Amino acid sequence: MNNLVLNTLIIGQKFINLPKCLSTNLEARTIIEKGFPIEGTVVYTNQQMAGRGQMGNTWEAQSGKNLTFSVILKPSFLKIEQQFYLSMSVAIAIHRFLSQHCLKKDVSIKWPNDILVNEKKISGALIENTLQQQTLQYSIVGIGININQTEFAYPLATSLQNITGQSYELESVLKEFLIILDKEYQQLRQSTFDVIKNDYLALLFRFGEWHTYQINHQQLQGKIIDLDSSGRLIVEHRQGTMKAYSLKEIGYVFESKEL
Ligand code: BTN
Repeated sequence: MNNLVLNTLIIGQKFINLPKCLSTNLEARTIIEKGFPIEGTVVYTNQQMAGRGQMGNTWEAQSGKNLTFSVILKPSFLKIEQQFYLSMSVAIAIHRFLSQHCLKKDVSIKWPNDILVNEKKISGALIENTLQQQTLQYSIVGIGININQTEFAYPLATSLQNITGQSYELESVLKEFLIILDKEYQQLRQSTFDVIKNDYLALLFRFGEWHTYQINHQQLQGKIIDLDSSGRLIVEHRQGTMKAYSLKEIGYVFESKEL
């Protein structure tokens, strides 16, 4: 994959393709630390050897089969307390991309920004922000999308090829995705926050349904009803109480689909 030619406003203005690296997020951080990074720079690799996930997890991707990349953004128009809007925009963009290849009804966003197809994880994003006074200075948007890999150690993982039976050219799906991300980022830059939140909630896995969650070492019934202003999940419980949860405080329980 050489220099990508993209008809975008920001995303992909510069393209760095590393044959292998530890983590594209770490590479992006090094570029930022060197100073004056170009907004929209994409750091891509075929082989990520120490891919990082949320909450200290790792991200495993077989070499040459998947999309693993990071995008450097400068969202200084976002206040610190609005940073979750960037996370929502990224999740919406991945959802839109996957909906072009899978049945839209099978694709959902698992809060905060995992993407599931038929309840299996196909994509995740790790967004790392640096702050300047009250606003975001830089964001490193690290994205992994499983494309042609067909076997996974984690049983609840899947890929586009597993779902559609087809294999994909990585360069062409990357371009397709970056164009969608560029559009979503424009939307965010126009600060259409209500639109973004409504779009996000409409695509959210288990929104408005009763399910079981792992909370404080207990399994509790809950219904996701909203997000608070910092992006925490607001869950209603059977007793009628409502509580906001951060990522560390709530886990999804995947019930068996078999009755
Ligand atoms: C998650 O679901 O836990 C987030 C996974 C994010 C993985 C991507 S792959 C490209 C970028 N570089 C990393 O080290 N992580 C992100």
